[in-house]
Amino acid sequence: MQSIFVNSIRRRQKELSKMNELVIFGVPKLTSQRRKVEIPKPAYNEVLIKVVATGLNPKDWKFVKRRDETKALNAGDDIAGIVEAVGDKVFEYKPGDRVAAFHRMGEPAGAYAEYAIAPFSTVFHLPPSISFEGGAGLPLSSMTAALALYQLLGLPLPTVPGNKDIPLLIYGGASAVGAFALQLAKLSNISPIITVAGSGIDFVESLGAATHIVDYRKGDVAAQILAALGGKKLHHAFDAISGSKSYEIISEVLVASGGGKINMVDPPEDESWTWPAGVEFSRTFVASAYGQKHAHITQEQAEKDGEFAYFFYRYLTYLLAEGKFKPHPHQVLDGGLDGVVQGVQNLHDGKVSAKKLVARIADTPGL
Ligand SMILES: NC(=O)c1ccc[n+]([C@@H]2O[C@H](COP(=O)([O-])OP(=O)(O)OC[C@H]3O[C@@H](n4cnc5c(N)ncnc54)[C@H](OP(=O)(O)O)[C@@H]3O)[C@@H](O)[C@H]2O)c1
Repeated sequence: MQSIFVNSIRRRQKELSKMNELVIFGVPKLTSQRRKVEIPKPAYNEVLIKVVATGLNPKDWKFVKRRDETKALNAGDDIAGIVEAVGDKVFEYKPGDRVAAFHRMGEPAGAYAEYAIAPFSTVFHLPPSISFEGGAGLPLSSMTAALALYQLLGLPLPTVPGNKDIPLLIYGGASAVGAFALQLAKLSNISPIITVAGSGIDFVESLGAATHIVDYRKGDVAAQILAALGGKKLHHAFDAISGSKSYEIISEVLVASGGGKINMVDPPEDESWTWPAGVEFSRTFVASAYGQKHAHITQEQAEKDGEFAYFFYRYLTYLLAEGKFKPHPHQVLDGGLDGVVQGVQNLHDGKVSAKKLVARIADTPGL
């Protein structure tokens, strides 16, 4: 009798140590499965977060498109929620804190789950004015924009006083990354800021950051950018789209300006592409926010990016609290985690304009 009782307590304890996570795989088409796994435990430098909302990113389909069921991945990297537990070295966060965080991409304990893990350096407090749903769209895309502008293009931070007469092109102003770059460039007092958008133009206008908005649907984008420059030279460009020949258009403008820097979020689609003389290419890969090296940066740059990310996330909390920086508009998906795979498919199909797709864990049937 006693052993039946003890066994039932053990079973209950085992159930309590488990959580739901959603994994995605891409062969032959994007598919997801919910499964029960152990609640992860934070290492000495990590934070365990009870996920309230999670944001989707185009990289989710890029990371799973060649995976079959055996390699299905919990691909969520944007976490907004409440701190559940912290590792021994973590001093800034405690259970109960409202936070957002960037999970290490491709690793276990991702954000498409009831609990997720992030290194403490990529966790930041969410001010009371920022909802979990808004916060869920911030970590990955805002960091990509910040790394590109400040670490790779070498533009001045908003903390540097004065107006900066530095013509800047942000290609893709309605995308999450591009819109965050626009907000940051405005905070840095950079001018003129030229951006390229299409159906998201109204949203881009509402940001009040770009001095010139080029409509890519009107054709000859390079000519429109040159007209917006009005004779000024362009030496800095952030290509937040890195597709649809954006880098060819940007190169044309840089060459007409006597050369300059282009930073891209993806490598050129055309593998035979060679950069014209005077055009200096760099690539942002947001994994450097936790110090991870990649093909286009040195170990030293990755380590510096890791330190930059530590302070930038904390600065972001300040900017959000002061109302100087706003989350991207968001749309909450139906069905919580069960709505994620359709959302990722919509990102893949280019059906999402000027918004972040967000899943609320509590909306998941049965949770
Ligand atoms: N390397 C990295 O570490 C890293 C990190 C983050 C993101 N990324 C990549 O960056 C890209 C953007 O990500 P995201 O999350 O910002 O995407 P997103 O918000 O889903 O982007 C959607 C937006 O892209 C705009 N767009 C599409 N084609 C365009 C074109 N030809 N010209 C101008 N704008 C265009 C659309 O603008 P309209 O609505 O105006 O048409 C749309 O609003 C993705 O490819 C993503 O994988 C890379």
